[in-house]
Amino acid sequence: MRILLSPDAAGAGEIAAAIIASSVGDRPAPVLGVATGSSPQPLYRALADRVQAGLDLSRAAAFALDEYVGLPVDHPESYHAVIAREVTGPLGLDPARVHVPEGAAADPAAAAARYEAAIAAAAGVDLQILGIGANGHIGFNEPGSAVDSRTRVVDLAPRTVADNSRFFDGDAGLVPTRALTQGIGTILDAREIVLIAWGESKADAVARAVEGPQTAELPASFLQRHDRVTLVLDAAAASRLS
Ligand code: F6R
Repeated sequence: MRILLSPDAAGAGEIAAAIIASSVGDRPAPVLGVATGSSPQPLYRALADRVQAGLDLSRAAAFALDEYVGLPVDHPESYHAVIAREVTGPLGLDPARVHVPEGAAADPAAAAARYEAAIAAAAGVDLQILGIGANGHIGFNEPGSAVDSRTRVVDLAPRTVADNSRFFDGDAGLVPTRALTQGIGTILDAREIVLIAWGESKADAVARAVEGPQTAELPASFLQRHDRVTLVLDAAAASRLS
């Protein structure tokens, strides 16, 4: 694992955006894996600045990591809506090439299989952007997730529901309790991975992901087995690394 440090979140976003621009900027039609949540926002802002300055991602495809099950796609906190607002528009992606798991499908298990097939049809993800949960989840692969798991329906951990209540007026009762998520195996198939983490609340999970044993109890620890992973951290998120 390569670890790059910045004093603050904005700087981490700049570093991560520079990695993405140099990794995929020259490809005519790269395939990006995109995360939602707070972590990648500085990255998307920095990447949007590069798009304004001439980086062309209009032929890139994108696959979101996850989506809540049971939330209508037009809900402002559905990941369909978040990706459209924070990724597709600002990065100048073609909406027709942006994919988000169909969490509102009548049959989410069938939607999961379709999602895996769509990623395969795109010849896989060139560069996957990740955040990390305070409990070490990646995507919504909560503790206990298998290293070879694929896109599937999962239950969110109580900690994740509580953490994400900030997007739902602080009311944990409004947060969906299930999601469709790419599996750990799906994520590890990406050819390159860039994980951005900032803030003290991520410090423990980051330290265990980097220095702990590979274990399903800390799903991000499985990133250790990928040979092209970069963690971009601010000082607070890095504060418990030895
Ligand atoms: C989001 C995702 C999650 C988040 C994680 C951290 O698509 O898959 O793994 O990256 O929950 O969330 P934030 O960044 O909001 O702290």
